[in-house]
Amino acid sequence: MSKAVSLLTKRVGKINPQSVEDYVSMGGFEGLKKALTMEPMAIIDEMLEATLLGRGGAAYPAGKKWKQLYNIEGSPKYIVCNGDEGEPGTFKDKILLRDDPMSVIEGMAIAGYVFGANDGYIYIRGEYRLIQAAFKESIEACKKAGFLGENILGSGWNYDIHVVSGAGAYVCGENSALLNSIEAQTGRPRIKPPHLAEVGLFSKPTLVNNVESFADVPLIVNMGGKAFYELGSEGDGGTKLVSICGNVNNRVVAEVGLGHVTLRDLIYDEEFGGGIPEGKELKFFHMGGQSGPIGFPEQLDTPYTAKALKKEGLSIGSGALVVLDEDMCIIDYLLKVCEFFIHESCGKCVPCREGNKQVHNILTKFKNGVATEADLELLQRLSRTMTTASFCGLGQAACTALDCCIKHRRAEFEAHMRGECPHCFPKE
Ligand SMILES: Cc1cc2nc3c(=O)[nH]c(=O)nc-3n(C[C@H](O)[C@H](O)[C@H](O)COP(=O)(O)O)c2cc1C
Ligand code: SF4
Repeated sequence: MSKAVSLLTKRVGKINPQSVEDYVSMGGFEGLKKALTMEPMAIIDEMLEATLLGRGGAAYPAGKKWKQLYNIEGSPKYIVCNGDEGEPGTFKDKILLRDDPMSVIEGMAIAGYVFGANDGYIYIRGEYRLIQAAFKESIEACKKAGFLGENILGSGWNYDIHVVSGAGAYVCGENSALLNSIEAQTGRPRIKPPHLAEVGLFSKPTLVNNVESFADVPLIVNMGGKAFYELGSEGDGGTKLVSICGNVNNRVVAEVGLGHVTLRDLIYDEEFGGGIPEGKELKFFHMGGQSGPIGFPEQLDTPYTAKALKKEGLSIGSGALVVLDEDMCIIDYLLKVCEFFIHESCGKCVPCREGNKQVHNILTKFKNGVATEADLELLQRLSRTMTTASFCGLGQAACTALDCCIKHRRAEFEAHMRGECPHCFPKE
């Protein structure tokens, strides 16, 4: 029996993404219509029951976030959709933005109604230029059809969505840096508190959710929070999009019920990753982008749900699953991860700006076979310092992959100290 689900992705590839008629013919805007007949707090109750853990990486419960914003005084309130999708190996929001943009628009509109907002902003990754243009077309089509703009569906409520382009900085996916970037300020994180729900976009109360999180909202309103929750399990409601890539036969975006598949299913099942090319062995897999944890073959039977993964020191993060085969050296891989963080560090704080460079220097010693036990100790101390003292999530998570590798594959570091590695020190 198929383990793939087609709920969030049910319209993908089946409709013209810029056609309101097509969207409506497959259930589109039913959620918004229903929402407009409901009290805002009743919608938030459904969100709470749905237990939708935010799909952008931090897995913060969306219902809780909505309730917090609801209880905050102040107007106007703004709705912001995070479509920066900067985590390497992550391309699941792209599918929604490109192939079913109106599901995101509908989710943002329902949020707009709940908070009495008149303006929503969607920040789309700079590299998705064509998607940005098509998304603007979709907005215009929705306005013409009365689902956005003035007096939406005769309700007397006005709501518009503005598209803002990213410019290639990974840190701008961090929610406060994202707001600075929308405000045309330098894309650097803000100090928190105050939280964005209180002092957000243009210093007003603001909701920031991920693209997939917003696309889930019409489903929740339509089917009810309980039914949505039951699509998942273990305190993790709904379905999840997973982008699978690297050394796999199929590089795909899969939709699965949370907790209803294991990591092994995602990597090896024909309908998902389809296994590793040329029959090679799995060496490790990287979850949730460069900031996420690395897992190993002995963890493959872990169910894909926040709770089960956490027990293993793993997490869903951005929804990426990058697979690496036996030909990849762990030190080489970690050097690449580190180069990414050196490049993307905004430079605002010392632990991240300098720490990543130091980690790279020490890893290079391992690569060259001149590292010692003291270097391994230093790597761990650096990691602890960066994780606890960095200003934002970028620096705090930069050593997650390194920590997993030291914990589970210390022997590979020790082998490099002795100059033993088939990739770095091949025997003639
Ligand atoms: C360095 C960094 C990059 C991030 N990039 C993204 C991103 O590209 N997309 C995203 O939705 N969230 C990203 N986040 C998480 C956001 O800060 C925020 O938690 C999220 O947009 C909230 O939406 P959610 O609750 O629906 O997940 C990033 C966080 C950090 C620290
Ligand atoms: S941790 Fe510090 S230097 Fe790194 S991106 Fe965040 S604010 Fe910038």
